[in-house]
Order: sequence, then C-alpha cells, then structure tokens
Amino acid sequence: MEAATKDFVWSLPKAELHLHLEGTLEPEMMMTLAERNRVDIGYPDVDSIRQAYVFTNLQSFLDLYYAGCSVLITERDFYDLTAAYLQRAESQGVRHAEVFFDPQTHTQRGIRFETVIAGIHQALVDYHSAHGITSCLILAFLRHLSEEEAIETLRQAEPFREWICAIGLDSAERGNPPAKFARVYEEARRQGYVAVAHAGEEGPPSYIWQALDVLRVQRIDHGVRCLEDEELVKRLVADGIALTVCPLSNVKLRVFPSLAESNLPSLLERGLRVTINSDDPAYFGGYLADNLWAVTTTFKLTRKQVMALAANSFYASFLPESDKKRHLANIEGTAF
Ligand code: ADE
Ligand code: ZN
Repeated sequence: MEAATKDFVWSLPKAELHLHLEGTLEPEMMMTLAERNRVDIGYPDVDSIRQAYVFTNLQSFLDLYYAGCSVLITERDFYDLTAAYLQRAESQGVRHAEVFFDPQTHTQRGIRFETVIAGIHQALVDYHSAHGITSCLILAFLRHLSEEEAIETLRQAEPFREWICAIGLDSAERGNPPAKFARVYEEARRQGYVAVAHAGEEGPPSYIWQALDVLRVQRIDHGVRCLEDEELVKRLVADGIALTVCPLSNVKLRVFPSLAESNLPSLLERGLRVTINSDDPAYFGGYLADNLWAVTTTFKLTRKQVMALAANSFYASFLPESDKKRHLANIEGTAF
C-alpha cells in the first residue's frame, strides 16, 4: 500500500472542524497587538513568549491562553487574527473551516460582543470572496463560568444569529460536566442552532454521554477517552457521531505522553468517525496539515487512510450535502 507523502497531505482538500480562533494568536501577532494597543503582556520578546509554552495539563494552557487574549481589543484586531488564520489554513489545504470563538473571554474584559463578532465575521466574508474558503462560526460557552452567564451570552448573540451556525462548550472540563449547560443548549436548539461540545479530553466518558443525551450534540470535540467505555463506543459508531481529534494538542496538554502512545489507531480500528484538527495551533506547534502529517508519519498511514480522514472532515461538517459531495469528489481527484 502506497505511503502518503508530505505533498499529498498538504494538497488534499480538508475541512477543519476544531479550531479556536483565539488559539491562532501567534507570538509575533501578540507582540504587534500588545504594542498597537499598549497592553503590557509581561514578556520582552517573541522568544520569551514561546519559551513559556510548556504545559502540564489543560488548565496550565488555559491560563496562558486567556492571558494572551488581553491584546485583542478592537474590531480590527479580531479581523487580523481571523485573516491570518485563514491564510495559514489555506496554505495547508483547508477548504472549509468551522471555527470556535469564545465571546466571554472578551466580554468579561469589557470588550463588546459586537466588536468581537464583527471583526471575525468580516474576515470570514472577505476571505471567502477572495479565496473561496467557506466557514462556519461556532459560539463556544466557557464551561468554568455559570450557565446564567452562558444564557446571557446567547442573548447577546441574538442580533447576529445569521452569522453563527453552531454552539459549543470549551475551557476547563474537569468539574464542569455538560449537564451544567442543559438549559442554554435547549434554548439554542430552539433558536435553530446545531450543537457540539468538548468532552472526553480530560473528562470521563460520562461527560461524553451527557453531551450526547443531555446537550444532544452532533459532534464530540476530542472524545478520545471514549475508549474507556465499550457501550459508549458502540453508541458513537452506531450514530455516526464524529470525534474532532487534535493530535498535537493532546501531546502538548499531556493527554497522552507522546503521539506514538495516543489512541488514534484504536479509535480508527473501532470504526469511529475520526477527524484530525489543530485546536490551538499557535500554542501547540502546528496547523491542520502539520497535525495530519504528524499522525501519518507516526502511524505510517497509507494514502487511502489519509484520504479517509480528509473525507471524514467533510462528512462531519455542517456543509450542505451538495458541497460535501463536491469536496469528496475533489479528494478522489487528488488520488491521481
Ligand atoms: N479552549 C481552547 N482550547 C481548548 C481545549 N483544547 N480544551 C478546552 N478548551 C479549550
Ligand atoms: Zn478545543
């Protein structure tokens, strides 16, 4: 069976389904925005920011990630952040991006919801016009905050309903089970949103069950701990629920000691609908093709296996069926 080359991995059309826009804030842009907005980030240069990126778990990363967000102030900042991500993603073969934004990270600092979403939305629209990359914006609630605060955030989103396609749940997982957000998900569903949630990254399989049965999500973000529960694996396979797996993130946040020790091969063997994603690429060392290449080389994936992962990314997306078909045909077309 033919091995997948780096060129092949880069040129394959791919969808990114698990990407936090705030996690694409590269140290260079952090410095630029800190100067532009006169924010003291406490680091003298880009190298010292990078050196701080050593994490012991999810919380140790989140502390830095939220601190880094302090440089994002104006609509133009959110525009520049989003445009820079799209450029990088396109260079790695991303044709469709379903991206999270964390409005509460900003509204809690006194930045208006409208400022955040207007900058992001305009960059998504402009990039689509100029380069044809499609997108879907996912409003993520911070699970370490209360459900009342999530409900207030959903209310703030109402004037921008048509700019947002889905809701999600992120931040510190342990001690913040999905069921805590049952009412806000119910209300969002009533407003026509589709739903996803982070579950089973650090949290137990019971959190994945709750995301499915209480929040009624269509995808699970991460979900790698599902293998600890046989009944759960059967349910995920039977319902075709995709997992948005983030290999480099899982190593950086010590979910697994190394990529070689990650459970990706077992997830694939069990027939789970796995997609590969970059999560917070500025912090974890790689964008989408970097992640796909890392698993390709580590697990010696064949071209056929890599194509299946790329195809999963479109199957599991929120794109209309006709667009999915077009992208899937393009994947087949890459297999010259
Ligand atoms: N926010 C940004 N990245 C995250 C992750 N990997 N898990 C939970 N919340 C996040
Ligand atoms: Zn994430």
